[in-house]
Amino acid sequence: MHIRSLLTLPILAGTLVQGIAIPAGHFTTDGMHARHAKPHHLESRSSFPLLSRKSTNVSTAAPVADGPAYWLESIAHQGVSPLGPSGYTVFRNVQDFGATGDGITDDTAAINEAMSSGGRCGQGCFSSTTTPAVVYFPAGTYRISAPIFDYYNTIITGNPNALPVLKASSDFEGGYLIDGDPYFGPGLNWPATTVFWRQVRNLILDTTDVAATSQISGIHWPTAQATSLQNIVFQLSADEGTEHQGIFCESGSAGFAGDLVFNGGKIAAALGNQQFTMRNLTFNGAKTAISHFWNWGWTYQDININDCDVGIDISTGGSDEQSVGSITLFDSSFANTPVAIKSAQSESSTPHTAGSIILENVSIDNVATVVEGPAGTVLAGSTGSSVIAGWGQGNQYIPDGPTRFAGDITPVSRAAGLLASDGKYYQRSKPQYELLPVSAFASVRDGGATGDATTDDTEALQAVIDTAAAAGQVVFIDAGVYKVTSTLHIPAGSKIVGEAFAVILSSGEFFNNQNEPKPVIQVGQAGSEGHVELSDFIISTQGPQAGATLIEWNLASTSDPSGMWEVHARVGGFAGSHQTSNECAKTPDTVVTEADENCIVAYMLMHITPSSSNLYMENIWLWVSDHDIDVQTEADGGQITLYSGRGLNIESTKGNIWLSGTSVEHNVLYEYQFISTHNVYMGQIQTETAYYQSNPNALIPFTPNPAIHDPDFAASCEGSSQGHCEVGWGLRVVDSHDLSVYGAGLYSFFDNYDATCSAYGSDHNCQNSIFSIEGDSSITVYNLNTLGAQSMVNRNGESLASYSDNIGVFTNNIAYFKTE
Ligand SMILES: *[C@@H]1O[C@H](CO)[C@@H](O)[C@H](O)[C@H]1NC(C)=O
Ligand SMILES: *[C@@H]1O[C@H](CO)[C@@H](O)[C@H](O)[C@H]1NC(C)=O
Ligand SMILES: *[C@@H]1O[C@H](CO)[C@@H](O)[C@H](O)[C@H]1NC(C)=O
Repeated sequence: MHIRSLLTLPILAGTLVQGIAIPAGHFTTDGMHARHAKPHHLESRSSFPLLSRKSTNVSTAAPVADGPAYWLESIAHQGVSPLGPSGYTVFRNVQDFGATGDGITDDTAAINEAMSSGGRCGQGCFSSTTTPAVVYFPAGTYRISAPIFDYYNTIITGNPNALPVLKASSDFEGGYLIDGDPYFGPGLNWPATTVFWRQVRNLILDTTDVAATSQISGIHWPTAQATSLQNIVFQLSADEGTEHQGIFCESGSAGFAGDLVFNGGKIAAALGNQQFTMRNLTFNGAKTAISHFWNWGWTYQDININDCDVGIDISTGGSDEQSVGSITLFDSSFANTPVAIKSAQSESSTPHTAGSIILENVSIDNVATVVEGPAGTVLAGSTGSSVIAGWGQGNQYIPDGPTRFAGDITPVSRAAGLLASDGKYYQRSKPQYELLPVSAFASVRDGGATGDATTDDTEALQAVIDTAAAAGQVVFIDAGVYKVTSTLHIPAGSKIVGEAFAVILSSGEFFNNQNEPKPVIQVGQAGSEGHVELSDFIISTQGPQAGATLIEWNLASTSDPSGMWEVHARVGGFAGSHQTSNECAKTPDTVVTEADENCIVAYMLMHITPSSSNLYMENIWLWVSDHDIDVQTEADGGQITLYSGRGLNIESTKGNIWLSGTSVEHNVLYEYQFISTHNVYMGQIQTETAYYQSNPNALIPFTPNPAIHDPDFAASCEGSSQGHCEVGWGLRVVDSHDLSVYGAGLYSFFDNYDATCSAYGSDHNCQNSIFSIEGDSSITVYNLNTLGAQSMVNRNGESLASYSDNIGVFTNNIAYFKTE
């Protein structure tokens, strides 16, 4: 996503939006949130979750006072940024910058020095890929008196074996402990939709020394794709009249957050963003656990809300001016909370589909009202406990519609292979290997790879990968840019983790023949079985790479699912890619009849092949750049035209694939495609159509390949008179079954870089249709949000739903869609 200022402004009648000044620490949502006089039951301080871990026999690391050492702290720090400032340091231990962690000393300046030193991308910098950093906190209590400014492209992480505490002192000045995007002036430092590649993990954010009446939040987090919050405890005042908040996020296009615990607070999570996936969050004793300023779609999985006044408030704006699009909530629970969900939707509320809700497998215990509407109770609860198998409100198509409904739905009949032993969907957080000793890691720099963006590192990387897999070690890709000129083979048994989003960069003629595509990384061979785990790195291409398939996944996993977490594609648009705004600038004023060969960046971003199965993917952003991250020479932020044939193509015959918080953007033929597969869980999926289409349209520059079931627009659009038929699909499903989508945002913002066709009130004619169901297929979609497409869903070429029947906050919404 990157649509500066254009996007969020027209959307949201009367709410907090990007571009409107919200001075740090001074925003308020008063008047929107009912207060109830009720005692709060905050868990006692001595029972912070996560402070104690099970002991294990695996770790041989020297124990420290508060828990085992963490390999990332003690491994040799050899990460580099070859295209960054000379002598640049990637890994920064805050204690090396003078932070004490003693709970007494003011560590603010030292931590901000660790963050900013070395010419990084901070105030006034638009974005950068050349100054990545890991800012590391050893165990301890770090007292701060002002915000920590989180720079672009930063991993903030604590020791997961003994979570460090960032503790605001009583005289704290500012709005947030960690400020992910400060308001230095009327606007955010970075447009929230351009804040990519950052993480915050393994911390306790504690505001309890600050007066309850102060407006303070743990983290200010307006962010976009490829960002995450993981394993954070928010310790907030639970006193009467508390104004404390855990997360304050007013805008952006994200993203993923998981394994968070919130104790206390007025609004534990105050959220506004286009879309998000949030999984495994626990809220204890907040006044309101979650309140949305606005959204388009939101996926909540395994959310547990205890002892709050209100669970999730989506009533912002009221019935006449709702600003919240939709939420999908499942495998979740509410306990001792009088109102679980507060909504403003009614038969006559506006916009028509705003406030749509889907609930599936939600348990309640002592919840008087499950859904409160503008005129009172919509779904009553009880003083006892029960389970809501399926319920929703909004528009439904089964597959005919629209039918307005508020009531029970038949829940998805879940494939057994997708479930954990407790009957919920299987979920697994990104492994941090926190109990392994340093000796369990094999550094690619130690193995002779340079990461200097110039040397051919193919052989060195392959040698480390093979040796580590045989020895049961985890490959550590030290920060750097590793050029490869032929395929890297990832055998069964591999575990690979990157530092600061290390980059694998394909280059050369080997990858540049679209008639003979080649994988950049190939996981297993056709027919091979076993287990692989990949996390925290980026796959990129350099120069023309018309035959590059960035990731090819062939492996069948028979017991535990394999996994991929925060492994992203970033194609073009960055220093070293040779496809920046200098080479591939957009040309909307020229009729494009032929693609510039130098701007053909990839064949396919990811291919999950027929023999593969059992793959869990979480927080994955497969991105063909729409703008130049490192060079902003133009007023429009350096938009560029790049051609990648295909996004994510899933052909697994056995299935059992989880797509938790994934997005695919700006490919020519499609973003997501499912071919003869089954048993796939998705939530939330998000797409964007290439900004240049229809100039050229999807007939250029790739020849459809029947072997991988490419759509053939020349054939399917023959005789179409609507004008925007030959445009890439957001989601294409062919001969596939038991696909379950828990939240989808399929967006087409532009026609030839002109966003008129997706503006609020427009006729959404950027493309005729964006979601195609073909052949013999079955699929359920909860909260389908589309933008810029006249038909929201097609079946075998016929439109099933027009945008005009499903007008929402900005996107158009169908709460409940099923093929049968
Ligand atoms: C740790 O080792 C001891 C002694 O060898 C053994 O009894 C115990 O079961 C092991 N614990 C785990 C968690 O493997
Ligand atoms: C959920 O998060 C907590 C930490 O907040 C963690 O202990 C637990 O293992 C997580 N559950 C799952 C299923 O990942
Ligand atoms: C709902 O979740 C519970 C665990 O909380 C699980 O036991 C049950 O099987 C789930 N039900 C469905 C329909 O998936």
